[in-house]
Amino acid sequence: MSDRKATLTLDGKEFDLPVMKPVLGPDVLDIRKLYGQADVFTFDPGFTSTAACESAITYIDGDLGELLYRGYPIEQLAEKSSHLETCFLLMYGELPTAAQLADFNTRVTRHTMVHEQMMNFFRGFRRDAHPMATMVGVVGAMSAFYHDSLDITDAWHREVASIRMIAKLPTIAAMAYKYSVGQPFVYPKNSLSYAGNFLHMCFSVPAEEYVVSPILEKAMDRIMMLHADHEQNASTSTVRLAGSSGANPFACIAAGIACLWGPAHGGANQACLEMLKEIGSVDRIPEFIAKAKDKNSGFRLMGFGHRVYKNFDPRAKVMKESADEVLELLGVHNNPLLQVAKELERIALEDEYFVSKKLYPNVDFYSGIILEAMGFPTSMFTPIFAISRTVGWISQWKEMISDPTGKIGRPRQLYVGPTKRDYTDLRSR
Ligand code: CMC
Repeated sequence: MSDRKATLTLDGKEFDLPVMKPVLGPDVLDIRKLYGQADVFTFDPGFTSTAACESAITYIDGDLGELLYRGYPIEQLAEKSSHLETCFLLMYGELPTAAQLADFNTRVTRHTMVHEQMMNFFRGFRRDAHPMATMVGVVGAMSAFYHDSLDITDAWHREVASIRMIAKLPTIAAMAYKYSVGQPFVYPKNSLSYAGNFLHMCFSVPAEEYVVSPILEKAMDRIMMLHADHEQNASTSTVRLAGSSGANPFACIAAGIACLWGPAHGGANQACLEMLKEIGSVDRIPEFIAKAKDKNSGFRLMGFGHRVYKNFDPRAKVMKESADEVLELLGVHNNPLLQVAKELERIALEDEYFVSKKLYPNVDFYSGIILEAMGFPTSMFTPIFAISRTVGWISQWKEMISDPTGKIGRPRQLYVGPTKRDYTDLRSR
């Protein structure tokens, strides 16, 4: 709490609002007692000015285009760290020692297999089900399989559930993919890295040997790390809200996956690649820019814009470099989608509409190009986002559970419906 205070004057009465001081970012007005004292609510649909919790995990400076995981800039982590090391950092607050990292790696890899009976669960889905639909169902169903990690009041249960989800989400996503293409499920191989194992489970078949390309493994690891957490975004807030009622961790993460699926959030990577394909060639870009500026068209440039970043998205910068690297190393020269993406970015960034609204490419603008070059269908893009964000959801969920001031999330409303009225009999309506 700082020495500053704000004063609200309402109907001639004054109400003091304490000012809370964050480590980084703007000060926060504490309005918790406002309703009790002044009998008014605040109105902020979309939470554009509302801090819903305290958190020590991730910080974004939207004006500087800065993203910090536990204080470490994302660019440094992308260059020097790995996804699993970043998972440890997000979950426990500090970078691991070599021994801690080795132990964490063992704990995660020992949990990569899923209960054999879960395979039957997959078979209940239509073959053409979107892998996100399958994931929402199967991750939610984990609570029916792992009863020994459901007690949220027990720190050990919370820990085991967390490790299980980090370990099993890649297996579940790969199974959803294999099921959709009619190939047999591939068991995890614990001698491989986290990213390498995921590629193995997606692309190997029993009929021949699959060797994980180190280039693709590194690119996949980086995609996972860049998506690992992003403070109180829609899906994370969904996980927190679900968790605030005391729901079990598997149910909470399933809720997060459902929220992530939307095209304004994690579904944007699929929507963006589909848009780049629809544009098709550089000469059609002006037509799509004009459409994006026309409010009546209902069309937005996918992979563009962000609620918090108003300068640039630092993840997009790393992703753009990765796209260049991966395509170069795969020997894909002059990839038409990459050409369209780069030209679209160039034109949009010079256009008054995008400049004045501070709209920049976000993380999803280039990720789809990399994933497609790796051989993933567009329907797998959002599941890969879900695998990556799992650690963020879990870290935020654990932080919420351990917060002694925690309460069930229960927003109020500004009611605009009918006033009280009497029921009318069916015959007289
Ligand atoms: N194309 C064209 N116009 C846009 C776009 C866009 N992509 N994004 C925002 N605008 C306009 C919007 O029409 C509005 O104009 P006006 O002020 O004249 O009404 C203004 O910019 C502000 O937009 P908003 O919808 O109020 O902003 P928001 O903070 O609520 O939405 C967003 C952020 C990411 C949902 C939005 O920019 C968007 O829909 N982008 C496309 C989808 C996308 O790429 N999503 C991925 C986000 S990054 C990955 C993740 O975290 O999930």
